Amino acid sequence: MSPREELLADAAVASGSGASPGAQRRRSPLGLTSEANEEALEAGIRPRLLAEFVGQRALREHLEIVLEAARRRGQSVDHLLFAGPPGLGKTTLAGIVAAEMGASLRVTSGPALGRGGDLAAILAGLEHGDVLFIDEIHRLSRSVEEILYPAMEDFVIDIMIGKGPSARSVRLDLPHFTLVGATTRTGLVTGPLRDRFGFVARLEHYELAELERIVARSARLLEVACSTAGASEIARRARGTPRLAIRLLRRVRDFVEVRGTGEITAEAAREGCELFGVDALGLDRQDRRLLETLCVRFAGQPVGLTSLAVSLGEEPETLEDVYEPYLLREGLIQRTPRGRVPTSRAYAHLGLEPPEVPEHDEGDDDGARLFTPEGGK
Ligand SMILES: Nc1ncnc2c1ncn2[C@@H]1O[C@H](COP(=O)(O)OP(=O)(O)O)[C@@H](O)[C@H]1O
Ligand SMILES: [Mg+2]
Repeated sequence: MSPREELLADAAVASGSGASPGAQRRRSPLGLTSEANEEALEAGIRPRLLAEFVGQRALREHLEIVLEAARRRGQSVDHLLFAGPPGLGKTTLAGIVAAEMGASLRVTSGPALGRGGDLAAILAGLEHGDVLFIDEIHRLSRSVEEILYPAMEDFVIDIMIGKGPSARSVRLDLPHFTLVGATTRTGLVTGPLRDRFGFVARLEHYELAELERIVARSARLLEVACSTAGASEIARRARGTPRLAIRLLRRVRDFVEVRGTGEITAEAAREGCELFGVDALGLDRQDRRLLETLCVRFAGQPVGLTSLAVSLGEEPETLEDVYEPYLLREGLIQRTPRGRVPTSRAYAHLGLEPPEVPEHDEGDDDGARLFTPEGGK
């Protein structure tokens, strides 16, 4: 399984859309690391303090001020929401907030909080200053979310005691705590919930130089020798995502330990990545399949999101969240009012001849009629 496929599996698990990729997640390409093992490894690499967190400068600066102000006032930090694509550091930041405040961290997630009682029990068990992290917070059910509102705003929850006609509602005071929410889909966080966060931060994809630093840092922690050029080759293929950079690093480390000298040089990094199906642009087999589908199967004609998802056997949301952002950013595909089209760069990358005339003519009168605000769904 390539790092991208693993990220995909993450996203599928997160969006609850696919049992099968989730089930495959337990295997690494060499079949050596179990998931528990992998999480333990990740735990050792995760930055613990803000100073160790690479990149996201503006966000880091804002967070520093928010944390310092709370520390000076001796209060708990305002509730924080981190939004952004998978693997950019949301969970890491939740841990950092707790560590910087010397608070303990309680972790749960939207899908795990099926019933109101689950959340009420967690809230009731919090202590003063605790940080409660709710991952995938956009997946909270409406009824559970409504319990959060007064908890966030006034630090109280209303619980029902008894059943039937004798049931009554009791208001319970909570200690002041900090809620840290994370979401891969800001658009799905309801307005009332978003408004109750004191600080909403968006994580952006990382620059090459930042990823190089992350790879170099992780290599040190993993105790594998990695040249600057080697780190750069890995960073280049990581699609702006630290989690992918670290996973690629581990794959390449496996590769150099088994087939090489144990040191990650530029050449070893290239060979290792290639072996795992990750090409020079960081595309894996599934990305290339998507491009091929657009270029060959649909011959460069605009393709709607749903048709494309069906022909690739993926969920439309997975295409939108996991595949497309990078392909769009790299200028390999375009969204037109009538659907997705490959660019000439996509043809070049696949080593294909582009069609003579670009057939997706946006100027015809069909264009307006077929226009949807989502860009050709
Ligand atoms: N800014 C960063 N600096 C260093 N490592 C990072 C950074 N952001 C993420 N990572 C690493 O990338 C991995 C994924 O980060 P994580 O916080 O789990 O992402 P998310 O929760 O957004 O999916 C972690 O192992 C973490 O150590
Ligand atoms: Mg996370």
